Amino acid sequence: MTLPIDSRELRRAFGQFGTGVTIVTTREPDGTPRGFTANSFSSVSLDPPLVLVCIAKSAASAGIFSNAPCFAVNVLAEDQKEASNVFATQRPDKFESVDWQESSNGIPLITGTLASFECNRFSIVEAGDHVILIGQVEAFSVREGRPLLYYRGAYLTLGFEAPLIHAASRQAETVLGGIFERDGAVLFEIDSASGTISLPSIGKNGDIITHSQLIKSLATFGIRANVDFVYAVFEEEVPGRVSIYYRGHADGETRTAMAFIPFDDIDLDRIIDPACRSMLTRYIGEARQKSFAVYMGNETEGVIRPVG
Ligand SMILES: Cc1cc2nc3c(=O)[nH]c(=O)nc-3n(C[C@H](O)[C@H](O)[C@H](O)COP(=O)(O)O)c2cc1C
Repeated sequence: MTLPIDSRELRRAFGQFGTGVTIVTTREPDGTPRGFTANSFSSVSLDPPLVLVCIAKSAASAGIFSNAPCFAVNVLAEDQKEASNVFATQRPDKFESVDWQESSNGIPLITGTLASFECNRFSIVEAGDHVILIGQVEAFSVREGRPLLYYRGAYLTLGFEAPLIHAASRQAETVLGGIFERDGAVLFEIDSASGTISLPSIGKNGDIITHSQLIKSLATFGIRANVDFVYAVFEEEVPGRVSIYYRGHADGETRTAMAFIPFDDIDLDRIIDPACRSMLTRYIGEARQKSFAVYMGNETEGVIRPVG
């Protein structure tokens, strides 16, 4: 006897498969451009060159795409999250929010993508609540850059989130923190009762947390922060906890629980966490020399990888 499939769990299981993100475009017979965000894209065959993408029968444009003689698949770059969000709605003005141009056969091609595939319809396969559009690639373009990724229902970008994927895949508790600098001073949280200082950080069990949540949480304290790159990844003494620290810049008026402390005035003994203490010691040394490296390892041993 097979157990009934729990569709919520199935959706969660499908979400374990990380993908890129595309926008699939075509034109209605009257010329109106149409497009939708899709992560169901896959390459299928080199000879003949075939690709596929699945469209939900419930999508407003399902009928248009099922009947379209040609369509294009635009592979999004990491800075095209906004376009992805817009094309995942039913807004009638989607194409006004992006730059695009026409392919030789009149299909809209979105500007700034990593690749685009202009396809003629090869075949259409009905598959449950979706229709599989199989296209034969007639022309394509390719550009260097980092992709926009989609994993477990959230966007990821390689530059910042690769360590998070690693941590999440190990079901580790993740702490996300930052060394935020302003004019030779580092932002600290200050515990006036104990006199200890710590780097701003957030952490949640199980969920994927991203650097944007860290930035948002600082904004609630009146701090405008931005993140430049991952500075250190380390496992702490607490089993299963991975700490990821970004390096960035911050500005704004600090309130009582926070302060920018100049490098020379940072009293490392007031930092309780030994891993953070050694990371900061390294940071201050490197900041003085203006060269940065990414640290990967545990508290006591690891490798330092220069940031490319
Ligand atoms: C990252 C992401 C991936 C998506 N992938 C697909 C997909 O592969 N197939 C699909 O039918 N809808 C997918 N969607 C949802 C559609 O983009 C959404 O239903 C959209 O409204 C369809 O456009 P339309 O209603 O104008 O046809 C995805 C949405 C997001 C955010």
